[in-house]
Amino acid sequence: MFRTHTNGELNINNTNEIVTLSGWVQKIRDKGFMIWVDIRDRYGITQLIFDEERTDKAVFEQAKSLGREFVIQVTGTVIERQSKNKNIPTGEIEILVTKLEILNKSETPPFTIEDDTDGGEDIRMKYRYLDIRRNPVRENLIFRHKVSMEVRNYLSKAGFIDVETPYLIKSTPEGARDFVVPSRMNQGQFYALPQSPQTFKQLLMVGGMDKYFQLVKCFRDEDLRADRQPEFTQIDCEMAFVEQEDILNTFEGLTRHLLKEINGVEVEKFPRMTYDYAMKTYGNDKPDIRFDMKFGELNEVAQHKDFNVFNQAELVLGIAVPGGNKFTRKEIDKLIKWVKRPQIGALGMVYARVNEDGSYKSSVDKFYDQEDLAKWAKVTNAKPGDLICVLSGDANKTRTQMSALRMELAEILGLRDPKVFAPLWVIDFPLLEWDEETNRFHAMHHPFTSPKPEDIELLKTAPEKVRANAYDMVLNGNEIGGGSIRIHDRATQEMMFDYLGFTKEEAQEQFGFLMNAFTYGAPPHGGLAFGLDRLVSILGGQETIRDFIAFPKNNSGRDVMIDAPANIDNEQLKELNLKLDL
Ligand code: AMO
Repeated sequence: MFRTHTNGELNINNTNEIVTLSGWVQKIRDKGFMIWVDIRDRYGITQLIFDEERTDKAVFEQAKSLGREFVIQVTGTVIERQSKNKNIPTGEIEILVTKLEILNKSETPPFTIEDDTDGGEDIRMKYRYLDIRRNPVRENLIFRHKVSMEVRNYLSKAGFIDVETPYLIKSTPEGARDFVVPSRMNQGQFYALPQSPQTFKQLLMVGGMDKYFQLVKCFRDEDLRADRQPEFTQIDCEMAFVEQEDILNTFEGLTRHLLKEINGVEVEKFPRMTYDYAMKTYGNDKPDIRFDMKFGELNEVAQHKDFNVFNQAELVLGIAVPGGNKFTRKEIDKLIKWVKRPQIGALGMVYARVNEDGSYKSSVDKFYDQEDLAKWAKVTNAKPGDLICVLSGDANKTRTQMSALRMELAEILGLRDPKVFAPLWVIDFPLLEWDEETNRFHAMHHPFTSPKPEDIELLKTAPEKVRANAYDMVLNGNEIGGGSIRIHDRATQEMMFDYLGFTKEEAQEQFGFLMNAFTYGAPPHGGLAFGLDRLVSILGGQETIRDFIAFPKNNSGRDVMIDAPANIDNEQLKELNLKLDL
C-alpha cells in the first residue's frame, strides 16, 4: 500500500497514529540535527520531521540525500507540532518518520514549484507537467472539472442526451480555416477536423434525438488571442420542436445554475438586447454591462457651432465617466495619447469636466458655452463629478474607438470586477455580413441559421437588413455562447446557399447530405454552443483560457512541450502520396 492517507488529510485528531504517506518533496529545511521536509500531493502538504535523536540513523542519512521533487514514501507517527501553521489544514501536526523510501529521484526542476513561481510562460509550458503540480494550475483544472460536471449533470437531468459526433469530417464553413487530415486509404483526399459539430447535431434532430449535448473539441485554424485556441471545447447543444424563446430560457437556466453552484451568485433574468441596440449603445456586440457609460450621440447638440472637427464628423459620440472629474490634466492627456495610438486610431479626444457645483469646463470652451455643455451632459447622462469624453469621425470607426475607450476607462476605474457577473443575451443579429475581401455576403453566424420570417422579403432588396433568429450569450464583455434557430426545409436552405454565392452544384456537393435529410421530415430545431474554456475562465475570474487548459498551445499555435506541429518523415509522406514543395 502506497499510502494510508493523503497529504491534506491529517490533523490533531490523528495524533499518535502510525501512517504512511506518498508524494513529492516540496521543501527541505536542514538544521543539521533536525530535518523538516514538506511532502506534497494533489490534496495538500504535510510536514515530515527527521530528528537525529529520535530517527533511525540510516533513515536520517537517507533524508539528507533528498532533493526537491523526489517522489517518496514515508511511514511514521503523527505528532503535535511545536510551531503551528494555522494556514493549512495539516498545520498542527507533523510526521516523525521511521521509514523512508525514495520511489523516484528528480532532477532539479527548471523553475520553483510554488504558487509564485520564478518560471516564465515559455519554460512553464515546456514543462507543463511540472507547472500542473503548482496549486494555481491544478486548482484551475479542478475548477474546470467542477464546471463541466455541473454542465453534464444539469443537461442530463433536463433530458439532453450526450452523443459523440465524428472528428474526421468534411469541412463546414463557419468562418475560420479548417485543419485538414490527409487520408491514406483515399489518396489525394482529405478529412477536415470539425470547426463545430453543427451539421451533425442538426442530423441528430432529423434522427429524432430531440435534445442533444456534447462537450466536444472543435478545431479552427485562426489567429490566436487570449480567448482563442486552435483546439477548444464547446458545450454543444441542439433541441427539436423549439422556438428561440425555449432555447433562451433553457440555457439561461443552465448559466444561472452554474453561477449559483460554482460562484454562489444569484442572477436575475438576463437582459436581452438587440444587436442594433448593442452596437449603437456600446459599439460592440458583446457589451460589458457590469458598468454603465452608455454612448450618447451628440450630433444634434454639438454640431453647427464653429468647431469644424465635429461639424465634419459623421458621428459625435460622448460617454460620461463616473467620477472622472477627479482625473488630473496629466491623466487626461494620457487618455488622449491612448486613443491616438495606431491600434485605436482616434484623431483626438474632446472632454468636458462636470464640476461638483454643476458647472462645466471643457477642452473646447472656445466653441461651447455652459448651456451647450449642459446638453452634452443630458445626452450622456453625466452627473456632477463626472468627465464627458467625446470622440468623432466616421460612424463605425468612432463606435469601435469609443468601445475600446470605454473598456480602458472601466479598467482604470476598477469597474471590471471579476467577482461581479453581468450576463445578457444579444439577439436579432443580422443574417448576412458584407465581406470586403471576397466582395460578397457571408453568413454572419453560419449558413444554417434561419432568417426572421418577416424579413425574408428584404433578402431581395436589402439583404444587409435581414435579421436572423440568432443569439449570443455575453458574460462580462465576452461572447461565451452563440446559436440560432435553423433552417429545416430544403427550399429555404437552397435559397440561402444561393444568396451566399454557392452554385447549385457546389451547394449539392458540400451540403447535399443535409439538404437531402431535410426532405425526410426534419423537425423545426435550433440550438447553441458555449465556449467551455471561455465560460470556465470567466467563472474562475480570469480571461486567459490557456490557464484553464491542461496542455494549451502558445500564441503561434505550437505545443512547445511535445514540439508540435512537426515535420513527418518521407515514408509517411510517400504513403499519403503527399509532396512537400517548400
Ligand atoms: P460559434 O462559432 O459562435 O458557434 O462558437 C460557439 C462558442 O465557442 C467559443 N469559441 C472559442 N473558444 C475558444 N477558442 C476559439 N477559437 C473559439 N471559437 C469559438 C465562443 C463561441 O461563442 N455551431 C455554432 C453554434 C450553434 O449555432 O449552435 C458555433 O460553433 O465562446
